[in-house]
Amino acid sequence: MKRHIAVTGFMAAGKSTIGKKLARRLNRRFYDLDEVIAKKHGPVPVIFEQLGEAAFRSFEFGELSEIIEGEEPAVVALGGGAVTYAPSLELLKKSAYRVFIKLSATQLLTRIRRSKNVRPLLGKAPTASAVEALYAKRLPLYMQSDVIIEAAHMTPTRVVDAIIQQLDEGKP
Ligand code: S3P
Repeated sequence: MKRHIAVTGFMAAGKSTIGKKLARRLNRRFYDLDEVIAKKHGPVPVIFEQLGEAAFRSFEFGELSEIIEGEEPAVVALGGGAVTYAPSLELLKKSAYRVFIKLSATQLLTRIRRSKNVRPLLGKAPTASAVEALYAKRLPLYMQSDVIIEAAHMTPTRVVDAIIQQLDEGKP
């Protein structure tokens, strides 16, 4: 388990909560990629609004590269779209175990609607069809992950247990 661990999945899947707990359990440093980007470049919705998605993906790639180049293997919670950008995906394939937190589109929509985070790609009132369409498009990318956790009805602690168990079993 010497590689970085990148937690991936759709918006509001719980990547940050799970990533933070996982890092604590493994005694690793934790990075929330969206937070790292915001610290350097300003709030994510503002980046999308003023500079567009392409600029955001390029900031995301830059910050991810810095984390990956760090010597100590860390845990990083990705933004939901990080794996859609080919250079970021290639970097992750080379240097990290990707862990997919899998929930249904219906569960994700409920979580997105409850969350206070603004998701620029879905707008202020996310619809079921928008979530379903974007999730369907991204699912093949998430499914390429080294570890896939069917996280429905699982607490974050149980998800973390399942991740550690699968990594220990040497599946990736
Ligand atoms: C995005 C997800 C967001 C954030 C940005 C783009 C996406 O992160 O990176 O709004 O393309 O799915 P979360 O997955 O934490 O919401």
